Amino acid sequence: MLTGSSAGSRVLERLDRLYALGGGRGANRPGYSAAEDQAHELVAGWMEAEGLAVERDAAGNLLGRLPGRRPELPEVWTGSHLDTVPEGGRFDGALGVLAALDAVATAALGERTLAAVAFRDEERGCSGSRARAGDGALPAKFVEVHIEQGPRLAAAGVPLGVVTGIVGYVRGEVAFEGRAGHAGTTPMDGRHDALVAAAEYVLRARDAARSIPDAVATVGRAEVAPGGTNVIPAAVRLSIDARAPDRERLDRLAAALGVEGAQRTEPVEFDAELRGLLGGELERAGVPVVELPSGAGHDAGILAAAGVPAAMLFVRSLAGGVSHSPDEESSAEDIALALDVLAGTLKRLVA
Ligand code: HGY
Ligand code: MN
Ligand code: MN
Repeated sequence: MLTGSSAGSRVLERLDRLYALGGGRGANRPGYSAAEDQAHELVAGWMEAEGLAVERDAAGNLLGRLPGRRPELPEVWTGSHLDTVPEGGRFDGALGVLAALDAVATAALGERTLAAVAFRDEERGCSGSRARAGDGALPAKFVEVHIEQGPRLAAAGVPLGVVTGIVGYVRGEVAFEGRAGHAGTTPMDGRHDALVAAAEYVLRARDAARSIPDAVATVGRAEVAPGGTNVIPAAVRLSIDARAPDRERLDRLAAALGVEGAQRTEPVEFDAELRGLLGGELERAGVPVVELPSGAGHDAGILAAAGVPAAMLFVRSLAGGVSHSPDEESSAEDIALALDVLAGTLKRLVA
């Protein structure tokens, strides 16, 4: 059995194998794409090589099980996702799946069955974990390891942190209608320029988020039609991603932004008992216990919202905490510590 940073190094090697799939700059494994399929096949092969019983459910989620002495008991799961944003980093999602694989594969036999899980299509709305939550075959407990994707643990000088919960978020689109026209012959006063209206909206969204403590709003995609460089834009569709730590602030932000057909995910708190267990394992490993909220959504939030006691262990982000970028960074030493804390936590949960 690999231990310490050699286990962390093996996770890094496997992360590199996954990172190479999809090609292009950074990680490019959109949900339900051929690249995500390849990532699932690669991880399923590693699960089988470790002697785990592999299942693919109706939504394409991948589970690798180590059966317990009493398989009739509700199971304990740990995992994350293998899909990525465009030009994403090595660690977002995949770190949690590989940590789960390592921890389940090296776990001693317990009363309960343990499963390492890779949920499908997390980045575009957690469709894999939402599908699983909808069909009811859920675990007794769920623990997700994930890179922090922010600067707090590095600022605190600690390698790991226990997550208190996840902010609420609203995701949708906003449409703007104008009138196409000639860029050269249409006077400025006579224009109905959809992109100017959209640009004013982006500034209003920024100001609305700034006016609400700890709220954020992002327009990540703009579709402009007809798209001619010498044509006044007739129609624009903007994506909007708005987040806030509690329902009241999320309500205020969503009202200010007016998003159509929005997908709303309420803020969730993680399970206090599981958080305490992770904290105890951190103390055993000699790591100061730091608790922090997550501004990013995660599959653990979907399971928690479905009533599964869930918790998350964050691994320090290096490179200033950047994520959703090829510059995302973590270290073999911190990953090795996360493997040790996860293994200790799972051992208690399956006893
Ligand atoms: O966007 C998020 O919050 C996460 O990375 N899916
Ligand atoms: Mn993620
Ligand atoms: Mn992400």
